Parts: sequence; C-alpha cells; structure tokens
Amino acid sequence: MQHRILPQPKSLRFTAGAPVPGPAVPTVVFDASLPAEGYAISVTPSGITIRHSTPQGLFYARQTLSMLQSADGSFPCAEIEDAPRFAYRAFMLDSARHMQTPDEIKRYIDVAARYKMNVFHWHLSDDQGYRVESERFPLLNEIGSFRREHGFGSVNRSRYGGYYKKDEIRAIVSYCAERYIRVIPEIDMPGHTKAILASYPSLSCRETPVQPETRAGVFRDILCAGKDETVAFCCDLLDEVCDLFPDEWVHIGGDEAPKQRWQACDRCKDRMAKAHLDSFEALQGDFMNRIAAHLREKGKRAVAWNESLKSGCLDSDVIVADWMDRDKLCPARANAGGAIIAEDFFHYYLDYPYAMTPVKKVYTFDPLPEGLTDFGKAHIIGVETPLWTEFIEDFEKLCTMAFPRLLAVAERGWTPEEGCDYADFVRRAEAQRPSLAASGIAMDPQRDWDPRGPDRLKKLLAHYKKTLTKEMLFSFLQKEDD
Ligand code: ACM
Ligand code: ZN
Repeated sequence: MQHRILPQPKSLRFTAGAPVPGPAVPTVVFDASLPAEGYAISVTPSGITIRHSTPQGLFYARQTLSMLQSADGSFPCAEIEDAPRFAYRAFMLDSARHMQTPDEIKRYIDVAARYKMNVFHWHLSDDQGYRVESERFPLLNEIGSFRREHGFGSVNRSRYGGYYKKDEIRAIVSYCAERYIRVIPEIDMPGHTKAILASYPSLSCRETPVQPETRAGVFRDILCAGKDETVAFCCDLLDEVCDLFPDEWVHIGGDEAPKQRWQACDRCKDRMAKAHLDSFEALQGDFMNRIAAHLREKGKRAVAWNESLKSGCLDSDVIVADWMDRDKLCPARANAGGAIIAEDFFHYYLDYPYAMTPVKKVYTFDPLPEGLTDFGKAHIIGVETPLWTEFIEDFEKLCTMAFPRLLAVAERGWTPEEGCDYADFVRRAEAQRPSLAASGIAMDPQRDWDPRGPDRLKKLLAHYKKTLTKEMLFSFLQKEDD
C-alpha cells in the first residue's frame, strides 16, 4: 500500500482491518525501551496507540501519524517502528548575505521539523553583513550590518542591511525548542569577516579601513591571528552570542581564510614563533583552538568547517563540518574518533541549480565518505544541508531551491540506507506539495527536479550565463549516481 510518510519509517507494515475513522485521539504510552528519538505506532480497528520514551519521540510519532492519515481523514491499520539513522539532521541558512524575515525563518523551521530535522545551523556573520544585535559592540550593527548597495550583481544600488534583534532571536530559538530543534549560531572567523573588520579595523593585520562586501567570493582581509586583542574580541563577542543561544554547540567558521595578510604581518609571525607553529595553516588551527578553549570554559563546544583540519592541530573535541574535503582529512579525523558532519558541496548545497545538483544526485549520495573504518563510521554524526544566499534574495526562490532537496537530505538523515528508494521518494515528495503550500512553502515544479542530457547543460548555462566557475563545471561533469 502506498503512503506519503516522509522520511520513510525504519519499519512499516500495513495490516488487515477496517481503518480507524478520524479524528482519532491516540493512546500515548511511555516505553523506556525505545530510543530517545524513536517511537512506535499501532493502528488497529480498535484504535491508535503511540509508544515513546521522550517528548521528542512523541512529537515525531505525531508527524508520522498526520502523514499516515488518508484523504478521507481515516487511518489505515498499520504497525510502525521508527528511529533515526543519524542523531544530527541539520539545515543551514545563510542570513548574512541576504536576510529572511523572522516569519519566513519560522516557516522554514516549521517544515524542517515536520520532516524530523533537529538542528538549525544559522549563519549570521559574513563579509557582507553582521546580523546579530550587539550591545557590547554597537558598531557591528551601525557599520557591519549594512552594505552600501544590494550587491552580488544586483541592479539595485540602494543600501542593504539589517540585523536580528535579540528578542527576535530569542523567539526563533524558542520556536525551534518547541519543535525539538537545536539552534547552532555561526560567527565565521578568522575569514569571512569583512563586516566585522569594517566595524573594528584594528582587528585586522593592516588595520586599514574596509567596507562590508557587496560581491560574492573569498576575501583576503581577515582577522589578525597574532593579536591577543583579536582573540579577546572574538571571545567577548561569542559571550554575547552565547547568551542568546543556549545550545552547547557554537559554529566558529574556519573556512576559506586566505593567508596573504598573515604572511605579511609581524604580529602573526610573532605568534607563530611563540606558539611553535610551523605554518600559517597551523596558525589558523591555533586561532581556532584559542576560541574553542574559551567556549569549552563556558561549557560549550566548537564546530568548524573542514579547512581548519589543514592545521594538523585542531583540538580533538572540535566538531568538523565536511563540505569540501579535498585532502581527505575528514575520514582520518573520524577514524581517530573525531565527530564529523556530512554536508558535501557537490550534493548537499541547496543554492546551486537543479541542473548542477539534481534531486536524484542529492538523494543517492552516501553521506559516509570513503576511507572510514567501522569505528570511523560511528563518528559521522549526521547530515546537514546548507543554503547560501548570495544569489537568493527572496523567500519564494529560497523555497524552490530548498524543496524538495531538503526533503531528500531529511530522509537520508533519518531512514536506513536499505529503506531509501528514489522513485518512491519522488512520489512521496510530490505528495507533500499541498501541505508545504499550506505552510507557505512553494516547492520546485517536479519537471525541473532531474534535468537530463542536453536539457541539463542548457539549463546550467542559462542559469550561470558568464559566471560558470571551474568548480561548478567539475560538479556538473561528475558522474551521476544512477
Ligand atoms: C563554505 O561553503 N564556505 C563552508
Ligand atoms: Zn596579523
């Protein structure tokens, strides 16, 4: 029997008997033998029973039950036993390049929770804007939250910016908590910091004035890793951010930090000598470790993008976000017991066109990288699907980029490999369209999900016009996982 439950439960068996007419009030039973996020549902002609061991498991059971309900409101007889494959199932939203309103963010969160995602990674600081209200460092808002024009190639030349008020952030964090979603804020450092440097230029190596960026890319002006004042600033800033975000984990970036400024900076070189660091990558590791140590003192744990592993000295408790691991450092880290989040650029980045990252490519991707031992496999803690917004200004576009690909990642994060079937996923994803629409989320038309052959290339070229990069072409040419 076909159903529209997504993610596909670990075990589902339709049984004989007359359906239970709706609305039906399930009997809820506590069962300590079930895993924390797991649950069991039994629908028999005499009624519906949910078993669970935590409120979160009960929440997921209710999501499943609402998807089990037939069009006439009744519930078919079935036995479901369910629990997630991965403990960490995340979506990342970039609110630095373009902001979304709190209401839009809540809509996104609401549907992610429906598909049993449990972490919201919120990217709140980048070259193009700092987005958290700061009382401690007011220039971050006065200067760093606004760029002189919309940028990213937009013809709109008006000033762009803003930031989330502390009360708005607290409201989003509690909205997430009600849906069993943790919120991990990201303050990217030492790179992607031109908005911070525009506000406080003394934090850079050269101390020259810069402005919040209006272009996409990777920029040379980064935080100086040689100044104790810079580390102190970052720690004070994170103290203020942590007051808003109760979760234990804090993402401190660590991606795409070019080293030219450090190579020409006496203070950076002094720090290297003093700390016996033999490379500028090691200087980045030292910088990340100093920030991670501050977080540790507060009872928190740092998350960092995989580039920070190039230092060879990143503290072992730092969780690593694997987005572009050319040197295969992530499997080695996992094999040594380090926690890794799978969020591969070529498969899980939602901001790239369907012609580059078709739904099937997302769905059939194995989140476990090659080279893992059995011990290492257990240290891939889960999946995350990032959505960057350089070229996504409005929420409707954002939704059509995210859906159904976010659903594909949600299912791969929850359902065991053997329960994943692409054709069936497509059918169930399409069946979500009415409920997504009712939540104000427009899903991409199905005809665009898997462009093939010449059509795919045509769509890719049309999307990028003259801006197709080597990386994108490389991704396009990668063999599709058929
Ligand atoms: C990243 O995409 N720079 C993490
Ligand atoms: Zn420096």
